[in-house]
Amino acid sequence: MSSPAHHSVEQSPRVPEEPELPKHVAIIMDGNGRWASERGMHRSEGHRAGVNNVRRITTSFADHGVKYLTLFAFSTENWERPDDEVGFLISLMGEAVRQETQPLHAQGVRIRHIGRLDRLPDGLQDAIRESMELTKDNKGITLNLAYDYGGRAEIIDAVRAMVADGLRPDDITEDALQRHLYTDGLPDPDLIIRTAGEMRISNFLIWQSAYAEYYATDVHWPDFDERQVAKALEAYGGRQRRYGRLDPDETS
Ligand code: IPE
Ligand code: IPE
Ligand code: MG
Repeated sequence: MSSPAHHSVEQSPRVPEEPELPKHVAIIMDGNGRWASERGMHRSEGHRAGVNNVRRITTSFADHGVKYLTLFAFSTENWERPDDEVGFLISLMGEAVRQETQPLHAQGVRIRHIGRLDRLPDGLQDAIRESMELTKDNKGITLNLAYDYGGRAEIIDAVRAMVADGLRPDDITEDALQRHLYTDGLPDPDLIIRTAGEMRISNFLIWQSAYAEYYATDVHWPDFDERQVAKALEAYGGRQRRYGRLDPDETS
C-alpha cells in the first residue's frame, strides 16, 4: 500500500469490472468548435482533431471490455449549420472512413452506421457500406457511427417501416418498434457521455436512452482521453440502476 508505484495506481480512477461495466456506451462528441476557437483556430481544425480522437477512444473502451460504442458525429439538425461547415463535415467523414477503416478492422472492430444514408453523397454512402461489409464478422467492439442521425427521424422511420410491413394496431408493441429502429440488434445504451459541458440530449437515442445513465464532462471532445474514459466508467460503476423499482434492501 505504501510503495510509490502502488500509490500511483490507487490514484487513477477505479474502473469497474463486469457486471458494473456498461455493455453499451454512447457519446455525444461535442465541443470541437469551442476547442478550436479557444486556440485561435478555425472550427474545422476542431472537427479534424475530433475525428483524430475516435480510434484512441474506441481502443480504450474496447480495452476495458465495453462491447458497443455509439458515437454521435452528425445530427439531422446539423444540416442547418453554414454550408461551408456542413460541406467540410461531410468531406471529413469521407476522409475518416477511408483512413480509419483498415486500422480499426485490424483491431477486430465491427463498424456500423445508424441514421439516414440517402442524403449523403454517393461516394460517402459507398465508403460507409464498404466499411460495414468489410468488418461485419469482426468479433471486437462494435463501433456504431451515428451520422445524419436524429432520434425523432428514427422513430418516424420505424413507424413507416411497421406500416410498410403491414403491422396491425395490436402488433405495435415496444418490442416491435425496437426491432424497426436503426439500432435493431444492439442493446440499449447503459451509459451516455456528453463532452463540452452541455446538459441536453440533442435528439440522440431518445427511445433507447429511456433508462441510460448520463455522464457529462466539461472536457471538449478532442481532449477526451483514456483518463476521461476511466473516469466515466468509474462514475458509472458507482450508479444504482433501479428501472423504477426499489432497491433490494428497501423491499425487505
Ligand atoms: C461537435 O462539435 C461536432 C458536431 C456537432 C458535428 P461542435 O461543432 O458542436 O462544437 P461546439 O459545440 O460548437 O463547440
Ligand atoms: C450534438 O451536438 C450533435 C453531435 C455531437 C453530432 P450539437 O452541438 O449539434 O448540439 P446542440 O446544438 O448544442 O444541442
Ligand atoms: Mg456543439
